[in-house]
Formats: sequence, structure tokens, C-alpha cells
Amino acid sequence: MIKTKLLSIEDLDKIEIQDQLKQAINQNKLVIFPTETVYGIGGNALNECSAKAIYEAKGRPQDNPLIVHIHDEKEVAKYALSISEKAKRLMTHFWPGPLTLIFQKKDIVPKQTTGGLETVAIRLPSNPVAQKLLNIVGTPLAAPSANLSGKPSSTMFKHVKDDFYGKVDFIIDGGKSTIGLESTVLDVTKEVFVLLRPGSITKKAIEDVLNEPIIDQSGERNTEKVMSPGMKYTHYKPKGNVVLLSGKIENIKNYLESLTSLNSKTALICATDYQTMFSFMNVFPLGNLEEMNLIASNLFSSLREMDEKEMEQIYIIELPKEDIGYAIMNRVLKAAGYQTLKL
Ligand code: TXA
Ligand code: MG
Repeated sequence: MIKTKLLSIEDLDKIEIQDQLKQAINQNKLVIFPTETVYGIGGNALNECSAKAIYEAKGRPQDNPLIVHIHDEKEVAKYALSISEKAKRLMTHFWPGPLTLIFQKKDIVPKQTTGGLETVAIRLPSNPVAQKLLNIVGTPLAAPSANLSGKPSSTMFKHVKDDFYGKVDFIIDGGKSTIGLESTVLDVTKEVFVLLRPGSITKKAIEDVLNEPIIDQSGERNTEKVMSPGMKYTHYKPKGNVVLLSGKIENIKNYLESLTSLNSKTALICATDYQTMFSFMNVFPLGNLEEMNLIASNLFSSLREMDEKEMEQIYIIELPKEDIGYAIMNRVLKAAGYQTLKL
């Protein structure tokens, strides 16, 4: 058991805390910090021992590569073999922000950080606390989402405390993550860029900046040819059985009403718009359909709540796939293990 220090944002201004953080990262210890997407569990990206410590703390398979977080665009040149003009355009437009770019890596980035790959994922977060921490420690931080492997990513201080208290040296409380879904991951090593994970920066937004189409492989489940190794593991899955319900809302209502198995351990996750319509069961509202960004930011904590409340059968009503809805549904499908009922 490690003695975990809990820090507030204000603590980061204290010289003695800054020294401790710097030292911890130098000694390959781990610091959990907020980003605009989800919380990250960070270690020195340039030291293989840190990567090992991260995999161990998360209980994550070692072939799942980590994202390298930097605090200045200029740093990319230190870790990426080359940066195309097109990639630069995306950096200028979307950084700092929730876009992760995959480059060919330089030798300075250890293979442990990249899960054995010759490529490296890099992102410049916009969250001021994340930026401050990166400045303090003075080294890039390899940081996957701060959740135990298989669990939903953490969007609140409480989530990271639940998963990692006693397992890391520091946890910084940055409040609720504003976006709540992990960054968009884009492979820019190819002539035509490839979307590997959808996020709040959409395919269309990227294409608009590039002025050309990109390829979307974010929905691919083929384990033989896994482009983004993280995609092949079970993700976001609550302990209960999760089923995605699609189709007309009246049909969904008829179906759920007719179930003889409905009990206090059955949950329905859906847009707040449907809360009253389904008042005959346990509803966990995500936010109104007009506020898809709010729905995005509530999704993971709602999935975690399923375990806290020991829900055994969980239904989720499909959400519109436009804009950020595409990334939301990508996570929902994974949470449901792709179990879908069309009604
Ligand atoms: O928003 C985020 O990206 C958060 C915060 C903490 O920054 N981090 C995050 O990291 O979601 P993680 O490790 O949970 O997800 C990283 C994703 C995985 O799907 C992984 O397979 C992919 O990025 N990835 C990382 N390096 C890659 C590489 N070299 N090639 C292809 N995919 C890569
Ligand atoms: Mg993750």
C-alpha cells in the first residue's frame, strides 16, 4: 500500500508540493491528474519503469500503448520522427485540446510506453491543471485513462479515489471532467489519416480542417488487424448485463413494460427526455437530447453508478449518432459488449 497524497488545484502553487511532484515523477512514481477529457494516471513517458508501474496499477495488458502528454507543441519534434504539413495543420487548429495524434516514434520514447509499437501517441491537453503539472514535472507524461482496466474511465475525483487510493503517490482533484469522453485518436502516419477512436473532435471537424476525407476505423472489431490495440479489450463494462435498445421509443416502452423480470436491480440509462415515460422502472437520466455534451460528460459516471448500486440488468436507450453522439455511442456499444436489441 502506497501513502497516497490528495492534492487540490491550489496545492500546485506550493513550492514544496512542486518539488515532491517532480521528484515522484523522476523516481517513476505515478500522479493522477485531471484533463479536459477524463482523468489520467501519469508517469514519466521517457522511462520504461514508469510505463511498467502504470500497467501494473491499472491491471492493464502491456501491449496496450499509452498516450504521451506534452505541454508545448514544439515538444512533438523530440518524440516524433517526422511531422507532416497536414499533421501540423491539425495541431495548430485543435491543440491544446482533445485530439491525440499517432506518429512514427523516435528512439527516446521507450517501447514500454508505446506497447511495443514503432509509433507514439501524443496529445497536448487544454486543461490548465494538466498543463501546470506538465510544466512542474518538466517531462512528458505517459497517461492512460485513470481507471482499473475494463472499468469506465474516470470523470470525477471520487472515481479515481475509488480505483487508485493506496496505489499511486498523488491524486490531484480537478473536479468533474468537462468533456467526459476520451480524446479523438487519429493516425497521421499514413498518407490518408485514420480515425482510430472517436471523441468530441469529430471526423467532420478534422476533414474540414484538412479539406480532404479521412478513413474511419474506429468501429472495427477485428482483433486480427488491430490498429489501435486498446480497441480489442473489453471496456467500460459494468458488472451487470448491459443491453442497448434501439428503435421507436414506443416499442422500447412496450418491450420494457412487458418484461416480467423487471425488479429493483434493473436499470434504464437514457436521455432525461424519457424519464417520465419510463417512470415504471429505475431510470438514470443522462441529460436532455438537446445537450449532447452534457450527456457525454455524464455517461461514464452513470456506468460506474451501475456497479455502486449493484444493478444486474442494465438497458441503455440508443442516442442520436450525430456529432459527439457518434463518440458516445461508440462507448455505449462497448459497455454493452455490442449486445443490441432492435425493437
Ligand atoms: O483523453 C484521453 O486520451 C485520455 C486522457 C488521460 O488524456 N487518455 C486515454 O488513454 O484515454 P488510454 O490509454 O485509455 O487510451 C489510449 C488509446 C488506446 O485506445 C490506445 O490503443 C491508443 O490510444 N493508442 C495509443 N498509442 C497508440 C499507437 N501508437 N497506435 C495506435 N493506437 C494507440
Ligand atoms: Mg482507457
